[in-house]
Amino acid sequence: MSDTETLKAELLADVEAADTLQALEDIRVAALGKKGAITAQMKNLGGLDPEARKAAGQALNALKGEVAQAIDAKKTAMADAELNAKLLTEKIDVTLPTRPEAQGFVHPISQTIDEVVAILGEMGFAVAEGPEIEDDWYNFGALNIPDDHPARQEHDTFYLPGVGEKGRKVLRTHTSPVQIRTMLSSKPPLRIIAPGRTYRCDYDATHSPMFHQIEGLVVDKTTHMGHLKGCLIDFCRAFFGVDDLPVRFRPSYFPFTEPSAEVDIGCTREGGEFKIGHGDDWLEILGSGMVNPKVLQNCNIDPSEYQGFAFGIGIERLAMLKYGIPDLRTFYESDLRWLRHYGFRALDVPSMVGGLNP
Ligand code: PHE
Repeated sequence: MSDTETLKAELLADVEAADTLQALEDIRVAALGKKGAITAQMKNLGGLDPEARKAAGQALNALKGEVAQAIDAKKTAMADAELNAKLLTEKIDVTLPTRPEAQGFVHPISQTIDEVVAILGEMGFAVAEGPEIEDDWYNFGALNIPDDHPARQEHDTFYLPGVGEKGRKVLRTHTSPVQIRTMLSSKPPLRIIAPGRTYRCDYDATHSPMFHQIEGLVVDKTTHMGHLKGCLIDFCRAFFGVDDLPVRFRPSYFPFTEPSAEVDIGCTREGGEFKIGHGDDWLEILGSGMVNPKVLQNCNIDPSEYQGFAFGIGIERLAMLKYGIPDLRTFYESDLRWLRHYGFRALDVPSMVGGLNP
């Protein structure tokens, strides 16, 4: 074997045996570097006669190429092996169960509003909104609440500094001003519900300074008391999930409706236990009535052509009754243990088709 062939066999064996990138680099330097074995042989070419120099030169150049190529191939193989080893350790087992994630809950107030909107939405009511900071006229005057009405007294109403276009600024004491705003901004026929926050200066187990109502308003040429009754009886039965729930209309007074009726549902209170449904006792759950012609007039609607009915429901009250929540103040304490107990799953959206009563 010539020197070149011996060298070649040695170098290729070394490359083959190398097991780190550093070892490969050392082989490259030892063969092709300035003081490398191939470089040394190249230097010796000068001492040969021309024929021999040519043949030996070609052989050395070929050897250089082969060794460089072998080193590159080995490098690529090592990089592949490293990547494969890494991929093996990083393998993901897609059959493992997911880690449980902390879940939020829907507050019973939101859930109850969603339920009421689902029921009345099905009857053709659209959701309307109004501001929580109102001018006196929208909250009282336009609703035919005279200046000396008790609801106007400071101990009930939060008055704010400043005066708007339509009187003193107040925190709305009910959602009824949305009736006024809707009648002023759109023409009848109207069929709206307005859920939202309301404020009164009151605080005990059944009253909070901030609470929620849903207002309902229907105005059309032929709207009558029968529509009011049918709508609210159907609503109560759907909401409480009791098909034959007794519903009673008890004559009452609101300045903005005439005649007015408070609506009671049948219940039993026996031995300290309270049950919705049959029985000889009644529980008031909402206020209602035929829109007072003066209110229609205040909103530029001709009462000789149109009439309507309206109702106002306390959301907390509905939620407390349906879900057995004893103290209204707990709604606003932001106690996560309470919310986990009384809250609802985010994807259990109430609907008439999917179910209202989880
Ligand atoms: N606004 C009344 C209240 O807060 C409820 C109501 C609304 C009554 C509409 C009749 C008609 O008590």
